[in-house]
Amino acid sequence: MSKRFYITTAIDYVNGQPHIGHAYEKIIADVIARSRRSLGQEVFFLTGLDEHGQKVQQAALADKKNPQEYCDAIAADWLAFAQRLELTNNDFVRTTQPRHKEYVQATLAKLQATGHFYKASYIGFYSTKEETFLTEKDRRPDGTFDPSYGDVVELKEENYYFKLGEHQQWLIDYIEANPSFVQPDYRRNEVLGFLKNNKLEDLCISRPVARLNWGIPLPFDPEFVTYVWFDALVNYASVAQAHSELALWPADVHVIGKDILKFHAVYWPIMLKAMGLPLPKQVLVHGWWQKDGARISKSTGNVIDPIAVINEWGLDALRFYVLRELDIGPDGNWTDAGFRSRYQAELANGLGNLVNRSLSMLKRYRNGVVPARSNELAADAAKASDETRALLKQNQLQSALQSIWGLVNRANQYVDQTAPFKLAKDPAQAQRLDEVLYNLAEACRILAVLLWPFLPGTSAKIYAQLGLPGAPEKFDASSWGGLTAGHTIGEPAPLFPRKDV
Ligand code: ME8
Ligand code: MG
Repeated sequence: MSKRFYITTAIDYVNGQPHIGHAYEKIIADVIARSRRSLGQEVFFLTGLDEHGQKVQQAALADKKNPQEYCDAIAADWLAFAQRLELTNNDFVRTTQPRHKEYVQATLAKLQATGHFYKASYIGFYSTKEETFLTEKDRRPDGTFDPSYGDVVELKEENYYFKLGEHQQWLIDYIEANPSFVQPDYRRNEVLGFLKNNKLEDLCISRPVARLNWGIPLPFDPEFVTYVWFDALVNYASVAQAHSELALWPADVHVIGKDILKFHAVYWPIMLKAMGLPLPKQVLVHGWWQKDGARISKSTGNVIDPIAVINEWGLDALRFYVLRELDIGPDGNWTDAGFRSRYQAELANGLGNLVNRSLSMLKRYRNGVVPARSNELAADAAKASDETRALLKQNQLQSALQSIWGLVNRANQYVDQTAPFKLAKDPAQAQRLDEVLYNLAEACRILAVLLWPFLPGTSAKIYAQLGLPGAPEKFDASSWGGLTAGHTIGEPAPLFPRKDV
């Protein structure tokens, strides 16, 4: 049995409601998961929630709930969110689940027994908001700390530390020898630059219970809980262990945002090495969304509510916009005008119009019965299909959409060039009209197959309108000639209603 393709997302903090950044990351991972399934791989897709830590403890207190009740209530919202995005995740991890806590504790016990930790006392400046000690390097030129750290207090504290020094060189060598380990390349260079220009400081892996009790206790010292990152990163392995019969580990892709790169490309590989586990194949790093050129922020009201967008425009419009607008890597800028413009041009007038006029003409001129096979658009379809297949294998989602729209545009141009509405008026052109109608219907069918990972709802609707059974969920169905002469299609209906603004 070949190994399953194991893909994960960051697990989101439960101290707030889902926003567009969370939606974006989960959509990326879902499209990759669906793509791999479509290409014939067995896939396991994991997402979930990061539920421990000071912020959650504080949010629960403010809500007058105990932390577990608070997490349970918010987790229900996040689960509903995952369903609203039609994520095809195979599991949903919550770091408060016993299966996870037990695995974290076993890991900690093992690393303690093998001498990776030591206890030491530390005096330093601590940001409660970011749950992190700050160093002199974090000071601004005027000596103060950035307001994003909130209140910074001086603190003396005993804690456990993870020895990182011995790991620095092999990690540099590993990242240099494995260019695909961190992608895109400029993120890989960022990690290498960091590793080569700084001596890795030992990682604090605990918090005293007196300061933070909402965490997983260290199995060898009940006065401490484990630091949130040591808890959170381990989810990828604890869930793999929970499904040990599926041989999930090592993960194939960790999809994460740029702000948590160091945790995934430096600390996590070192933790795994100490645990005696192989490293994940890839950390795939996406950029951050802004709105109207400014940082997304609840306090300034500069937000995009993904649920409101889905309610107004439909899920596939959201999935399309975020992936077509922004490649995986750079930061993106959401504008409502840009969203509407892509909806009108590419979805309504592009794909929607193509499918609707192709199937409506087949219905009107041939009673919905597919004519004999013709291969005029076969080469264009093969080109889009080959390109898309190759791009999906490389997680190049934006380029894959561009390639698919190459076929959408070609087919729309074909309608204009062949003018079937004119052919229909001339009985001598009946055979030519048959050819045109076949090519258009078959191009629509192939588009449904190529679009399945991206726009599953739309893709299923195209198949249904073509009167085809099942879902267009296997890439193999993208070869030319799937529609057979004499097959009767279903009812055409607009895929993307035009919106008057
Ligand atoms: O960092 N645009 O959780 P989180 C795009 N619990 N992506 C964004 C974004 C934006 N504006 N804002 C946030 C955590 N993200 C930890 C992860 S993993 C073991 C633990 C992304 O809820 C962010 O980069 O703060 C991260 O990948 C994800 O949303 C969750 O962020
Ligand atoms: Mg964050």
